[in-house]
Amino acid sequence: MNYPVWQLGFPGGLLIAAVAVLHVFISHFAIGGGAYLVLTERRAYSHNDSELLGYVRLHSKFFVLLTVVLGAVTGVGIWFTIGLVSPEATSSLIHTFVWGWAIEWVLFFVEIAAALIYAYHWDTLDRQTHLIVGWIYFVAAWASLVVINGIITYMLTPGRWLETGNFWDGFFNPTYWPSLFIRTAMAVGLAGIFGLVTAMWEPSPLRERVVRWAGWWLVLGIASLLPLSRWYFHDFPSYSRAYFSGMYTAVHHALLGGAVCTGVALALALVFALIRPKLMNPVVVAVLLVAGISVMATGEYLREFSRYPYVINSYIYANDIRVGQVESIVANGVAKASPWVEGSADDPHAYGRELFVIECGSCHSVAGYRAMRKITRGWDAKFASEILLHLPAVRETMPPFVGDEHDRAALGRYLASLMPATPSGANEKELGQQVFAIHCALCHSVGGQRRPLDLKGTDPEGIAGMLGTLGDINPDMPPFTGTDAEGHALAVYLSDPRQ
Ligand code: HEC
Ligand code: HEC
Repeated sequence: MNYPVWQLGFPGGLLIAAVAVLHVFISHFAIGGGAYLVLTERRAYSHNDSELLGYVRLHSKFFVLLTVVLGAVTGVGIWFTIGLVSPEATSSLIHTFVWGWAIEWVLFFVEIAAALIYAYHWDTLDRQTHLIVGWIYFVAAWASLVVINGIITYMLTPGRWLETGNFWDGFFNPTYWPSLFIRTAMAVGLAGIFGLVTAMWEPSPLRERVVRWAGWWLVLGIASLLPLSRWYFHDFPSYSRAYFSGMYTAVHHALLGGAVCTGVALALALVFALIRPKLMNPVVVAVLLVAGISVMATGEYLREFSRYPYVINSYIYANDIRVGQVESIVANGVAKASPWVEGSADDPHAYGRELFVIECGSCHSVAGYRAMRKITRGWDAKFASEILLHLPAVRETMPPFVGDEHDRAALGRYLASLMPATPSGANEKELGQQVFAIHCALCHSVGGQRRPLDLKGTDPEGIAGMLGTLGDINPDMPPFTGTDAEGHALAVYLSDPRQ
């Protein structure tokens, strides 16, 4: 909490995702494409296929332009966005892996230099040297994945690093190997897509030859994704594996979408590239491209979601607050923890809003993505400040609220001001249903998956009495803050056998 908070107006994670997905796509594509170019060149020499050689020559320039320019621009773009959205985590990553980054930058330099020589020196280098330059390009590109994979996987599973603080413990962490294989498989698949896209410019019969050759890359890449993801998932932290059990609709949809895209891509590649390459056409290639990007984006999204409530597991929360700082912030208040926070004296509402941006804004917006205005409908300030004590019980994905009593009251008042509404209904049961929606539905459902409550047929007076002692039933439950009439209506609703 040592930096000014960048107030975007929407969760910064979305911005990182937009830049990152593009960069991840380009960078994996650069690795696979490198191998594809060199192996295709070698194939052309060994089959004495001058048409194929002409194809590689032509597209090597297009490839280098695309990967070097877009790769560099989006890569720098990622540094800018993560530095602004999560300065604490970015600073921590730089400090922990300073030599990793240094090696990464050297590799990047080698990669770009080799790529330029490869693309522009077809005539000045002999075949053997040209192939070697191509291999240098590919090896540097893949080695940069080998390095950055250690840092990315460390964020999800820092493993023994948490106790030892040792570089290698963090680097070769529990998800290092499966992730390296998955990313390599993605790179191979994307190289196949690159081959298919470029083949569309070629006349028959070279076109069919390239389509079938590139098709093998695509099929190999996609087909290995399923077993590799199972291995990867197996090494996830156990708490985040639970996110995949259907509790979170967003995760469920992403999994389904990713599976459909993988299946469609595999089927299309088999039919249109391997079995009937004559039928391959730009429309199918476009579908494959979109499916490829979607699979990649889904994977990144699920990996990021699995990291919740942390950005670096057990070390820094997703809202950029260090776990080690929590105790002192709870004792002394947010304003004391950061020179950038303006304090509460003049305008308590503005202070509440500031706390919202700092603690909730990385994942919630006020009115758009995971809109707070919808969530807090009908909240009163007392209820809001009580809920803040139980955020991890509301959703396991959320960090705890940190701050002193004064902060909690200020944020509570701000949240309650977003969408004031008084529960009402034509009859007592309807009123009770609304009271349930406001006070209980954050954590419970009736007949659903989330902590289902089944009090059908219970005496309403008994339930109404129990509302006064919720905290005794479970310390994770906030006290009921509604009026007596609301409590009674809630009891009637919960006991109704025909809910
Ligand atoms: C690390 C990301 C993250 C942070 C930070 C975060 N939340 Fe959440 N929050 C979530 C996710 C994810 C959900 C679940 C959304 C879903 O179920 O689709 C959620 C859901 C909620 C819900 C329940 C919504 C419902 O539909 O019942 C409440 C209440 C809530 N958040 C309040 C807060 C408050 C207040 C803060 C700040 C003090 C906060 N959150 C900070 C990620 C976060
Ligand atoms: C912040 C989350 C949270 C809120 C809000 C909440 N509860 Fe709970 N409740 C829990 C937890 C945690 C348990 C423990 C059992 C579990 O984990 O399933 C629990 C258990 C219960 C139980 C006993 C177990 C059972 O299934 O019968 C009852 C009854 C109950 N809650 C009623 C309510 C009612 C009524 C409300 C609304 C006024 C409410 N709760 C609001 C978190 C919450």
